[in-house]
Amino acid sequence: MISKMQKNLNNLILGIETSCDETSACVYDIENKEVLSNVTFSQIDIHKHFGGVIPEIASRAQLEKITPIISEALEKAGKNLNQIDAIAVAKNPGLAGSLLVGVCFAKSLAYGANKKIIGVNHLEAHAFSPMIENDIPFPHICLTASGGHTNIYLIKDFGDYEIIGQTMDDAAGEAFDKIAKMLDLEYPGGPLIEKLASEVNFEDFYKYPRGKIHDLDFSFSGLKTAVMYDLVARNAYDMQNKKFIGTTSSSFDPDLKKKVSSSLLVCIADIFKQRIKLAIERYPEIKAVSMAGGVACNKYLRNQISDICTKKKVEFFAPSAKYCTDNAAMIAFVGAYKFKQNKFDTFELDIFE
Ligand code: KG4
Ligand code: ZN
Repeated sequence: MISKMQKNLNNLILGIETSCDETSACVYDIENKEVLSNVTFSQIDIHKHFGGVIPEIASRAQLEKITPIISEALEKAGKNLNQIDAIAVAKNPGLAGSLLVGVCFAKSLAYGANKKIIGVNHLEAHAFSPMIENDIPFPHICLTASGGHTNIYLIKDFGDYEIIGQTMDDAAGEAFDKIAKMLDLEYPGGPLIEKLASEVNFEDFYKYPRGKIHDLDFSFSGLKTAVMYDLVARNAYDMQNKKFIGTTSSSFDPDLKKKVSSSLLVCIADIFKQRIKLAIERYPEIKAVSMAGGVACNKYLRNQISDICTKKKVEFFAPSAKYCTDNAAMIAFVGAYKFKQNKFDTFELDIFE
């Protein structure tokens, strides 16, 4: 089977990503290391009224979008399914219902069209996403920060990596989203917090606690609680009804949301910088640092980490925003190196593997 495939090889991978609230498909050219198309539908407008992702609604929306998004990705790449050599699909971690849509669809498509199937760990895909656009030398470290995860990886080669730091509770993106909710800002909180912080020049007004340093690990739930109690003390948050009351309180400060946003962003930047500095010192063999995941869209965080890397004389890489948030290009990219390594899955592929 493999030898037959190799004779007729087009070197094209179809990537599918449905792990949370994005439906994304990509056609990736392995030989030319080129993303031919990367089409993503985001459900943010559907979920923002609820202040977060509703899993049941997310999986239904995945089901509605998966066929048109894959068709559009093939069309934009100017390819048809016959020309695809293998289908790579996101597996855990993610929302079970959303992942199931992608994995079941990918397996059916692969079975019906006689294609190879490759399951791709969602976090491995984030960790390698900075390499879609850059040849980053090995070994390097990657800080992956999203709504569900915050990890530091030591990346030794394609598919060869280990976690050297991780969050013990909330993810960094979750801290942005939950604190944004306390401030009555829309979901997802990260982009809005960045915008508000920029309006007060990223000043650290409230000096939130940076927390204890647990080696290369993180903890963000204490920060969330600290911000909440600080808001209560400023008469800006009603803890009982979980409601922002800053605009109605007698001590109304029109800049309060900006000041909280800015102080929060600076605090998270400090935590990241400290861990990256420690990781560079701990692993002197590393040749670069990268940052990935939705939180890596944040330009302030990127610049702060980049500055640390410059001081430490280590190159820094971060992907374009479209490859930071969930996207199929990162799935296809990992699919491409697994394809070259002959690492395929069977139709037993499961979302939790
Ligand atoms: O990687 P992603 O799209 O989905 C997950 O796998 O979770 O990341 C989404 C997260 C959300 O928590 C969102 O608030 C955060 O990324 N995010 C940001 C920014 N843009 C998105 N956080 C901080 N600053 C941003 N500009
Ligand atoms: Zn993700």
